[in-house]
Amino acid sequence: MIEPRPELSKLSDYVPGKSIEEIRERYGLNRIVKLASNENPLGASPKAVEAFHQIADSLHLYPRGDAPKLIDSIAQKFGVKTSQIIIGNGSDEIIDMIGKAFIRQGDNCVGITPTFSVYKFTTLSNGADFIGVGEGEQKASLEDLAKAINAKTRVAFICNPNNPTGAYYSETEIRDFLKKVPQDVLVFLDEAYSEFATADDYPQLAGLLDEYPNLFINRTFSKIYGLAGLRIGYAMSNESVIKAMWKIKPPFDVNQAAQVAAIAALGDEEHVQNTRKMNAEGVKVLTDAFESFGFKVLPTQANFICVRIGERAKEMVAFLEQNGMIIRGLTSFGMPEHVRITLGKPEENAFLLELVKKWLEA
Ligand SMILES: Cc1ncc(COP(=O)(O)O)c(C=O)c1O
Repeated sequence: MIEPRPELSKLSDYVPGKSIEEIRERYGLNRIVKLASNENPLGASPKAVEAFHQIADSLHLYPRGDAPKLIDSIAQKFGVKTSQIIIGNGSDEIIDMIGKAFIRQGDNCVGITPTFSVYKFTTLSNGADFIGVGEGEQKASLEDLAKAINAKTRVAFICNPNNPTGAYYSETEIRDFLKKVPQDVLVFLDEAYSEFATADDYPQLAGLLDEYPNLFINRTFSKIYGLAGLRIGYAMSNESVIKAMWKIKPPFDVNQAAQVAAIAALGDEEHVQNTRKMNAEGVKVLTDAFESFGFKVLPTQANFICVRIGERAKEMVAFLEQNGMIIRGLTSFGMPEHVRITLGKPEENAFLLELVKKWLEA
């Protein structure tokens, strides 16, 4: 019998948001709306779609693994050196590369919890322990996170804004944390949802990369840029950290369609602004509505809201699915009484509220 590595026995399966096809097959519905995976309801930028079409006649060619044009565009946008940037097949792969490059058997990583599960997955699969700080809907304290760090700690994971709560840490909170952390602990800031943040004190950290060689900023084209299906993410850090990651990066992981679409998406500020505006309006509409139904809605800086439904959360998620609305129950995040709802287009939000009312009346 072929035995997998023993570390694998500690891993649970990743639970993704349900797909439209899955729900269509199960319930045979015509109209299905998915507000479960924090995708952009407006889709990709039209400029990215155009770039994607234009690449169609060179599908037989390998992509350039070093993606110089894309990396230049990112460097210019953030005012950092190209040697401070890496890309990956989604930011998921960047998290995976962190594990391969920096996490050893017997180490540990710390992170705020509840949060995106891939940090723990990467930690455990590399034979290290994951120490979670924080519980439930309460925002985890970065002071407690700093205290959890010990001599074996390699990485501190902070998701900002946090998935699934939508809570955020201000620039002052992050700077204070960075001051407390030993220089040999990588501070992994996952800013997958940063472009949606509207708070004035949401951090702008690229300028701190030279001051803190252990700072790592992870971003993605899957959320506001609407390219989740193409799988492309990017990250910025100190040159030596990035150099180590290029060594273990699969050479052709980011395909050429993803590269050209990402360059076009970065240049389409109008699409980003339209998405941000629609998102902020949606946050207000859904927050007001759920509060008027008597539910607690956690304040959010992302493109989703986290709502405490109570003991009937699972039942509500199932009712919505049966009626063509996919949202995310949070049992796998350790929050069984909460749901996470991605903000949709106004008509999608209205459809959701119509169904929630129906459920409440039933
Ligand atoms: C916080 C966070 N980071 C990273 C990812 C992964 O994004 P991707 O691999 O699509 O770039 C997600 C996806 O939902 C996420 O929520």
